[in-house]
Amino acid sequence: MKLLVTGGAGYIGSITTAELIHAGHEVVVLDNLYQGHRGAVHPRATFVEGDLADRSCLAQLFADQPDIGGIMHFASYTLVGESMAQPLKYLRDNLVNAANLLEAATAAGVRRFILSSTANLFDDPERMPIDEDERIVPGSPYGESKFFIERLLHWFERIHGWRFACLRYFNACGDLPDIGEDHDPETHLIPLVLQVALGQREAIAVFGDDYPTRDGTCVRDYVHVVDLAGAHILALEALDRLGSRRYNLGNGQGYTVMEVIQACRRVTGRPIPHVVAPRRAGDPATLIASSDAIRRELGWQPRFPDLDAIVASAWEWHREHPRGYAGG
Ligand SMILES: NC(=O)c1ccc[n+]([C@@H]2O[C@H](COP(=O)([O-])OP(=O)(O)OC[C@H]3O[C@@H](n4cnc5c(N)ncnc54)[C@H](O)[C@@H]3O)[C@@H](O)[C@H]2O)c1
Repeated sequence: MKLLVTGGAGYIGSITTAELIHAGHEVVVLDNLYQGHRGAVHPRATFVEGDLADRSCLAQLFADQPDIGGIMHFASYTLVGESMAQPLKYLRDNLVNAANLLEAATAAGVRRFILSSTANLFDDPERMPIDEDERIVPGSPYGESKFFIERLLHWFERIHGWRFACLRYFNACGDLPDIGEDHDPETHLIPLVLQVALGQREAIAVFGDDYPTRDGTCVRDYVHVVDLAGAHILALEALDRLGSRRYNLGNGQGYTVMEVIQACRRVTGRPIPHVVAPRRAGDPATLIASSDAIRRELGWQPRFPDLDAIVASAWEWHREHPRGYAGG
């Protein structure tokens, strides 16, 4: 199938593009390179540099590519902390960009959509691990913007006959040897710890060591980006058969911040100093996904259930590309 991948020059979108092409799909990437990198886009993908805010660009894209069969929508503002300072960048722009995309795609006759949604929908979970029946309590304007888009999809299904899957990722991590994570600013734990291993930072800050967890640091569920890509492909293949779906996506296992740092020390063989800093507002103690539904319904099986293997894949990319894509 020919697929439009928005944000296909970014971290998860570029790796999913590569996996889609390996699985025999054709890919058109739309990205404005706000965060993404031209060098991350698979050479066999068609690259369109453009912005989802630009409706004429979207109309032109669908006119030029009349045989697009589905959309994977990664492009978004993604920073929880920034969304607390600039809420409308998220509540307005993330929503309007998705609405523009759906409007143009509906006019072009496309009806399949996979959304990058988030664990930030579950700020106050009543059960752990968190399954799809958990009540939605967005933890930030970022999370709320993803919920808005989930609701947009609900109405586009009812009114225009779309089929969609919302994949609520927990902590995406890991890399391919030649495509990896290169965000500016970087906010994710594993690349930050590896920057310390590379001597680019003095120490890693651990925000709070007095949570009610094994060692007092926050517990999160780390899921390899290749496994996220695999889930996208399975979800796409199941859309026509099963109809619209919402899945929580994680390994189902939680690791503390200190356990992640220790895994990075083991894998890199480097000391990696850490300093304990005050808790950050709004960080829940524990977030672990139940991915039983996607395992049961789609047969999804993570290829990287093991934290050391995840870190090793990230270390390979960061060691070989210490300056990210800027280093060539
Ligand atoms: N990284 C995670 O742990 C995580 C967890 C949960 C959900 N997500 C979601 O997954 C998706 C991908 O995350 P990522 O870490 O790869 O982010 P990323 O920033 O690396 O990728 C997003 C891409 O979208 C592009 N983009 C942004 N706004 C655009 C616009 N208006 N028009 C065209 N392109 C635009 C950026 O240039 C970038 O290449 C995002 O929607 C994010 O919210 C990520």
